[in-house]
Amino acid sequence: MDVVYLNGKYLAADQATVSVFDRGFLFSDSVYEVIPYYRGVGFQLVQHIDRLKKSLAALKIVIDIPFAEITDQLVIKNGGANQSVYLQVSRGAGSKRTHAIDPHMQPTVFACTTAIVNNYCTLVADIFAVKVIVCDDLRWGRCDIKSTSLLPNILAMEQARQQNAHEALLQRGNLVLEGASSNLFIVEGQRLVAPVSSHAILSGTTSQLIKNIAVQQGISFVNQDISYARLIAADEVWISSSTRGLVPVNQVDEHLIGDGQKGVLWQRLYQLLADHQRQLFTEKS
Ligand code: PDD
Repeated sequence: MDVVYLNGKYLAADQATVSVFDRGFLFSDSVYEVIPYYRGVGFQLVQHIDRLKKSLAALKIVIDIPFAEITDQLVIKNGGANQSVYLQVSRGAGSKRTHAIDPHMQPTVFACTTAIVNNYCTLVADIFAVKVIVCDDLRWGRCDIKSTSLLPNILAMEQARQQNAHEALLQRGNLVLEGASSNLFIVEGQRLVAPVSSHAILSGTTSQLIKNIAVQQGISFVNQDISYARLIAADEVWISSSTRGLVPVNQVDEHLIGDGQKGVLWQRLYQLLADHQRQLFTEKS
């Protein structure tokens, strides 16, 4: 049985219970992070905890606990190695269902782990490029807050699944912004382009790392608006997230991207990410 963390305790998953009046359950009044651990070490852990604190501050949920210590401990209790930690903080439970916020409520903190999908160990040659679709973005105006209010994302993913696609990219007006659970990059010639940051996009820990590595390597990088026409005309399209890593896209709806193969710049960036990850292990050991 997996060990989970709930409000200060490490428990067997079937022993952990939350009030039916918890605002996370009733209103999605909660925020979360998904943090990959490789060989027991949190990847971009500081960035994940910083983003969690920003999400909490944006919703005025006040809590001061050592999140990184909690997730480190949880990974150890579940056997270390490669796992992804789901960490959720809700505003807490009242004594009845009411929209009004009681400022004295104690937040509910929950964390669990799952096996990790991507670990950057897969060779470039063994990674498959994927199909994505583009859907209307039905989410609210503050997608920079990593809120558990994910119904539009889930419905978009379901549309993708029905069309044998790996991800749904979300379009608002004329702009394609990000995936239902990933960030978006395109390549035009030798240049890497990502959408302009705004409240409509989650600032990804993986995409930030990719941007930093690209800039360090002298690869031309720019934040610009990406329209549907620009997306499908790109030489390469990629998506990125903590759970997926960096994934090449070879089809958007019915349009093939580039020559339909994994792109040259993707191969370079994936390798650089894998090297960066290996370097961290050398530093830690
Ligand atoms: N989601 N955009 C959205 C809407 C996301 O949900 C995610 C990640 C990202 C990428 O962020 P990061 O690189 O920090 O993982 C972008 C996680 C993995 C999830 O919901 O499971």
